[in-house]
Amino acid sequence: MPAQWSPDGWRSKPIVQVPEYPEPALQQAVETELRDYPPLVFAGEARRLRRQLADAAEGRAFVLQGGDCAESFAEFRANNIRDTLRVLLQMAVVLSFASGKPVIKIGRMAGQFAKPRSSDVEKLDDVTLPSYRGDMINGMEFDAAGRAPDPQRMLRAYNQSAATLNLLRAFAQGGYADLHEVHRWNLEFVASGEEAERYRELADRIDEAMTFMASCGVTSEATPQLRETDFYTSHEALLLGYEEAMTRIDSITGNWYDTSAHLVWIGDRTRQLDGAHVEFMRGISNPIGVKIGPSQTVDELLGLIDILNPEDDPGRLVLISRMGDDQVEAKLPPLLRAVAREGRRVVWTCDPMHGNTVKSSNGYKTRPFARILREVEGFFAAHDAEGTHAGGIHIELTGQNVTECTGGVQAISDEDLSDRYHTHCDPRLNASQSLELAFLVSEHLKEQRHRRNRRAAPGRTAA
Ligand code: PEP
Ligand code: CO
Repeated sequence: MPAQWSPDGWRSKPIVQVPEYPEPALQQAVETELRDYPPLVFAGEARRLRRQLADAAEGRAFVLQGGDCAESFAEFRANNIRDTLRVLLQMAVVLSFASGKPVIKIGRMAGQFAKPRSSDVEKLDDVTLPSYRGDMINGMEFDAAGRAPDPQRMLRAYNQSAATLNLLRAFAQGGYADLHEVHRWNLEFVASGEEAERYRELADRIDEAMTFMASCGVTSEATPQLRETDFYTSHEALLLGYEEAMTRIDSITGNWYDTSAHLVWIGDRTRQLDGAHVEFMRGISNPIGVKIGPSQTVDELLGLIDILNPEDDPGRLVLISRMGDDQVEAKLPPLLRAVAREGRRVVWTCDPMHGNTVKSSNGYKTRPFARILREVEGFFAAHDAEGTHAGGIHIELTGQNVTECTGGVQAISDEDLSDRYHTHCDPRLNASQSLELAFLVSEHLKEQRHRRNRRAAPGRTAA
């Protein structure tokens, strides 16, 4: 635990992107109530995630982080939770097979309710109201009552997070995540149409591997690893009053943990070195993320690493690059180089969503699938060139068949966007687009694995 840190120390630092509650006494009462609520996650789980992330930092594991841009109270349903988990599991099988590495699965789930916004206000005709900041802060409906920040919403977000996490744990351990089931869903995707057929070869090879394993006695009945999985939760730690109330001392280590999720991250808009969010995050012992956008300088990044990971623990810090497909090539390599030069150990992952948001011809906020893919390719290329590890991907997605991002095998066009555009904030990949992205990323991972094998055994060709 760093010296001179307390869970409320952030309160004396400059802060951005948080609401002003009209009734501070009510806010305090809610935070006091939350302080007595049970933790949502156990510190030992966060430590296990740190150990697994340390493998990703060294190139021995791959991170898949994904889920809603913003969870919502209105879409709180078992099927939504199940389907988002399902698509993440499907992606993980493909990524793991191609990379030959374990995939660390982290949902943007069970707590992703607070949003930073580019403007404090939203204007519609001649009415100006506070921007929507996520269901844990205010409502999406455009009226003065809905947009007023209401601290009671924190309690509802806590309760929804607890119920979501409960279901996720049941699915992860109770048989839903069985590798055979997940693989069968992938085969369904491949059979879903002509375009998806191009991913059949990889799916067939997974099939062969599983048949071989079964013939060796490695079956779900005999092998818990095939029927159960680890699944972690994460969200942006934006609303610090809530995060502080969920921060507790772990009785085993005596360290502070933010028990609202296994991993929490700092957004691209709140990563100021002297700001409240960095101050809060430096003292908790969870693994943490930081979004790294195009305005990030080398000096500031090294400063952030010094503050957030002074002991150079490889599983502590995930740097989530979100440059945009047109900037990744120029902006990422100098950062990779500087971090490597300083010998700092971190996990680098790629969020190809937030730098690629555009307005469609008919006025929807969307993201073209082709740009998302190009950013991931740029991310891999930068790591290949610098000799650093491309440690994972961070995706906004849903298991529902929405039409929010254009492109993919379903060839969603600008005109299609209005069909099923349901997001509470940013446009998400739907189940088909998410899985397709996993298949496309897997081609890069396979190449990497072959290169690694060739280095390990020169003269031999990899299978
Ligand atoms: C997000 O992840 O939803 C987000 C707001 O990202 P960023 O901080 O990178 O803009
Ligand atoms: Co978003």
